[in-house]
Amino acid sequence: MAEKKRVQATVKTTKKATKKSILAEIFESAAVTFPEKETSDDPKVSKKCKILFVASEARPFIATGGLADVIGSLPQALAKDPTYDIRVVLPLYSEIKQEMRRKMTFHGNIYVPLSWRNQYCGVFSYLTGGVTFYFIDNEYYFKRPGCYGYYDDGERFAFFSKSVMEILPFIGFYPDILHCHDWQAALAAIYLKTDYCLRSEYEHIRAIFTVHNMEYQGKFSLDILGDLFGISNEYRHLVEYDGCINLMKGAIECCEKISTVSPTYAKEIESAQYAHGLEDIIRKNSFKLTGILNGIDTASYDPATDQALFANYNANELENKKICKSELQKMLGLPVKDVPMIAMITRLVAHKGLDLVKTVAEDILHEDVQFVLLGTGDFSYEEYFKDLGRRYEGKASVNIAFNGDLSRKIYSGADLFLMPSIAEPCGLSQMIASRYATVPLVRETGGLYDSIKPYGAGGNGFTFASCNPYDMLYVVHEAIDTYKNGEAWKTLMQRAATTDFSWSRSAEEYKKLYTDTFTIG
Ligand code: GLC
Repeated sequence: MAEKKRVQATVKTTKKATKKSILAEIFESAAVTFPEKETSDDPKVSKKCKILFVASEARPFIATGGLADVIGSLPQALAKDPTYDIRVVLPLYSEIKQEMRRKMTFHGNIYVPLSWRNQYCGVFSYLTGGVTFYFIDNEYYFKRPGCYGYYDDGERFAFFSKSVMEILPFIGFYPDILHCHDWQAALAAIYLKTDYCLRSEYEHIRAIFTVHNMEYQGKFSLDILGDLFGISNEYRHLVEYDGCINLMKGAIECCEKISTVSPTYAKEIESAQYAHGLEDIIRKNSFKLTGILNGIDTASYDPATDQALFANYNANELENKKICKSELQKMLGLPVKDVPMIAMITRLVAHKGLDLVKTVAEDILHEDVQFVLLGTGDFSYEEYFKDLGRRYEGKASVNIAFNGDLSRKIYSGADLFLMPSIAEPCGLSQMIASRYATVPLVRETGGLYDSIKPYGAGGNGFTFASCNPYDMLYVVHEAIDTYKNGEAWKTLMQRAATTDFSWSRSAEEYKKLYTDTFTIG
């Protein structure tokens, strides 16, 4: 009841306020610093900067890729600032474990209009790390294995996005910023800017769209614009591109700001090589675009405490890393010996640079090294690497799997982490490897370029620029030679392990982005 009153009160105030005064209020709130003893019952809490993340996955609830790592850790990093109220909305997939569901609070349900449909929408929440995660429940859309890959994904995420807009009065939270991630959340921004912004409670909400990967744009036939997405022809120009509906394009056009996950990728996507057809749209909207490098959850990825490791160590005491290596060798059936172990943990898809690896894999394996691969993906790569593993038994260990525990054992046990991506918006694996003192060898693209610098120039890893397998091979040889020089290698391991990949720096940049977005009238 008290909650309801508060909601009504908020609506009333917003209705009365002019645009200017709302902005002024937001500015004030951005500047407010709260004494530590204040609790959430404090009336000033309403002055916090309110950010609502909209995304399709987040750790620890559900994860298929790097997006889940970001949505599972950036909100917590931001929430450490008591002047921010950070919340997240996700779909309630059936694959979210029962033990987590049991801890959720059920808030009730509403009905969400989507074109001619009126669909059930249950609302659950789960508080963790100072962040409230809301879950949108509808078994018709989300009681299925996995997250994506269904014929009706467009309708599923349209329902999700529409639900995000509809639950705001229900949960009593009108954010200052709606922060949408990737195409699955693009429609939330599009609905906001084409429809909901006409309502006084929503008119002050600014929208940010973060591109985690330009490759996946959410493209659908134009025929379903009205029938499935409930978008009238009047707004067709916003989402239409290249003869179809392109939701990423729509969000880029609608949002006040767009960001992507590294400064270099933000520049790269202005060119056709990286933009997957959207380069013109990016260039046209480049005045809105910033690149902010992701961080990693340094508490979860900490070799000093990680329970999955055979032994724990830190940047100053690296001795135990040898145990991690020898135990991993035993586990994978490799001879226990002191040769450089080169690892890859990757999705087996072309843009990860696997064709570069294929071209020179045998040259690498003719050296006195070991090669360990973990990942799943395209059939042809899976078959190629399985075959390589068979032919180089005792030297190469190929594991076609997705296994969190084994991945941590590899991050800690290997010496060199190979990540020669053709395109990499940010990449988290090179940061995790680095944290575990496993030296990254990367191609200079996107976030790889922004996070790993060459050893020769005082950096924390090895890099090469062109998409040429022999350039990569040259640098692999350089790394092997450096490994043989124990002292040099130790210095390099320490540089890698002490590079700061925590969220604290990036969280500050996001806060600046939020403040810049508030200032847009
Ligand atoms: C996508 C990108 C990856 C990035 C991740 C998180 O998976 O491909 O480079 O690290 O999103 O932003």
